[in-house]
Amino acid sequence: MNNKFYSVKPILDLNKKQIFIETYGCQMNVNDSEVVLSILQNSGYSLCDAPESADLILINTCSIRENAEQKIWSRIEQLKHIKGKKAHLGIIGCMAERLKEELLENGVVTLVAGPDSYRDLPKLINNLSESNKQINTILSEEETYADISPVRMDKNGVSAFISIMRGCNNYCTYCVVPYVRGRERSRDPKTIINEAKVLFENGYREITLLGQNVNSYSWDNNQFSFWMLLEEIAKIDPLLRVRFSTSHPKDMDNAVIDTVAKYPNICKHIHLPVQSGSNAVLKRMSRKYTRESYLERVEYIKKVIPECSISTDIIAGFCGENEQDHMDTLSIMKEVGYYTAFMFQYSQRPNTMAAKNLEDDVTPQDKNRRLNEIISLQNELSLLSNQNDVGKVFEVLIEGTSKRSDKELFGRTSQNKVCVFPANEQKVGEYVSVKVLSCSSATLKGEIVK
Ligand code: 5AD
Ligand code: SF4
Repeated sequence: MNNKFYSVKPILDLNKKQIFIETYGCQMNVNDSEVVLSILQNSGYSLCDAPESADLILINTCSIRENAEQKIWSRIEQLKHIKGKKAHLGIIGCMAERLKEELLENGVVTLVAGPDSYRDLPKLINNLSESNKQINTILSEEETYADISPVRMDKNGVSAFISIMRGCNNYCTYCVVPYVRGRERSRDPKTIINEAKVLFENGYREITLLGQNVNSYSWDNNQFSFWMLLEEIAKIDPLLRVRFSTSHPKDMDNAVIDTVAKYPNICKHIHLPVQSGSNAVLKRMSRKYTRESYLERVEYIKKVIPECSISTDIIAGFCGENEQDHMDTLSIMKEVGYYTAFMFQYSQRPNTMAAKNLEDDVTPQDKNRRLNEIISLQNELSLLSNQNDVGKVFEVLIEGTSKRSDKELFGRTSQNKVCVFPANEQKVGEYVSVKVLSCSSATLKGEIVK
């Protein structure tokens, strides 16, 4: 990577072929789209902001639940009418990997590329025609795109994602990720640290280190582990905030928690997906921790970082889940006191261990009711967590103007809570101290204090 020739923002050029990229799914996909743009920008494409003006439309897709895929099928239908006659439509990412040739069958999609084949995109596109559809869904054990500098498509220029690893080896029984993103592999730390430095020099003030399971990051024959990487990134500059996601509870060791505690610029927020509060369900999910060992991790976090916020992912209605298991999920939510959660109904994914070996036996009605109970409890917990912040002062990194009023700014606290406050002369990318005066379950409202 050569910093001098590295552009963090798209270089727009109407004389070049135009590409439109639409991204679905997780933060990893957002970052992958930035890698794809970098590769295509280097081979003569320019980013455009509407599918109507594109020569090539790419949809970066997600397979995690059935409804994620359904959304993309409807989008393909819509784009069939929107894309001009000359434009090609390509499907990339997880759904490309899962469905492969099947995506080419409806006659609308002409290009399919899985998550490890993005370097091949210029060649695939070159060879592409209506009669010569192109596909590459080969998974790799090495590809980390380490030397590629993602071209950032975010609007604010303040927060960016950096992928530190790819794939997953955990094979939680419900999850399609290991099948569509391949084996776990870590990226060379030198390239990660360099990318973070360049972002900081370009005005970015917050980076999120991404991986399916960042706590198992490992380099140099296990001599260099995740807490060391975290420390190196934190040392770049005290003004650079560092976040990370996702942590697997079984791999969340004291060293990482101690590092979060040690550096003021490592954000005091840990996303720790619990999935279920029932040991029987956790076992069937093959999560490799128990309710007790999870709570022990939470206790350590609260002891070492009392101001830390904790968020989670929860699945309602996994195979064999009974009412008591569901109650166990509600009770662990209260015990931890999550400030927010991503909550889902279980959706069976083809070819996963759960699809092969377990019965999807919770009725849709029960899944729906349990999910609603989980959501309403989380709303109460989020409100309680926010009410607890009223009267306190937080350092907020300004991300933009509030959607409701251009006289208000918004940003996040270290705990990852969105905070809205009246604008003075402060600018996006600056830190301000904000005293929280009121809240809803989703937002803190406050005013700048000196
Ligand atoms: N059904 C429902 N939710 C799922 N997740 C992963 N796989 C499934 C599935 N088959 C959820 C988990 C994971 C998050 C990214 O998505 O909670 O942590
Ligand atoms: Fe899926 Fe489990 Fe890997 Fe997360 S850790 S991506 S839930 S297999």
